[in-house]
Amino acid sequence: MANLVLIGAPGAGKGTQAERLVRDHGLLHISTGDLLRRAIAAGTPLGQKAKAAVDDGKLVPDEVVIGLVNESLSQKTDAQGFILDGFPRTLEQATALEVLLEEMSEPLHHVIVFEIPIVSLADRIAQRAAQSRGSGADVRSDDNAEALSRRVDEFARATVALLPFYDQRNLVRRIDATQSIEDVATQIGSLFAK
Ligand code: AP5
Ligand code: MG
Repeated sequence: MANLVLIGAPGAGKGTQAERLVRDHGLLHISTGDLLRRAIAAGTPLGQKAKAAVDDGKLVPDEVVIGLVNESLSQKTDAQGFILDGFPRTLEQATALEVLLEEMSEPLHHVIVFEIPIVSLADRIAQRAAQSRGSGADVRSDDNAEALSRRVDEFARATVALLPFYDQRNLVRRIDATQSIEDVATQIGSLFAK
């Protein structure tokens, strides 16, 4: 059992690795991006409020995503670990998560930081958009050059500040996210052996 946070720039591979962790370890996958896209597609009041920010690549207000995570974690069974993919993204979210986990008596085991140069991201996002188009699925509304550049800016502005926060708690595990999907999975897998 492990409770994980995945931190990485857009396209770093968080969702890809989360899928494998679900398959191999049965963890509960909580992606705030996926939850927001689902709410937007369903046209819920929350989705309507979040749509403009998501489309533009800006962060959705902290209280909205904290509410989503709170609700998702409450659905977890006692023995099941979880993966938070793309949350927290601000210090406010990290602090709220700490309080929430304390209340649930759940520790965090690893904060996995996907290290990848910004210049590699555009290709990955373009590749995902092409894959979606090829399979007849909708392309994500923020998988375009303009929104990607804002997502990268938001990552540098707000999310990088989480590294000292989690470093102080000895939770940061840096992985080389430029490697193949398989090799990144091996790096993450080695954390489970410890
Ligand atoms: P979110 O959905 O979290 O998007 P993101 O962080 O921009 O990241 P992505 O999902 O684009 O990338 P990923 O790291 O999952 O990469 P993937 O595995 O898909 O957030 C979207 C928006 O929601 C935000 O902009 C914001 O508006 C809002 N939001 C979400 N959370 C929020 C929060 N906490 N607070 C406020 N707002 C929030 O891989 C990408 C591509 O690369 C794929 O094609 C994949 O096949 C390929 N790939 C993956 N790994 C490799 C590899 N090792 N080698 C080669 N190719 C690879
Ligand atoms: Mg993702």
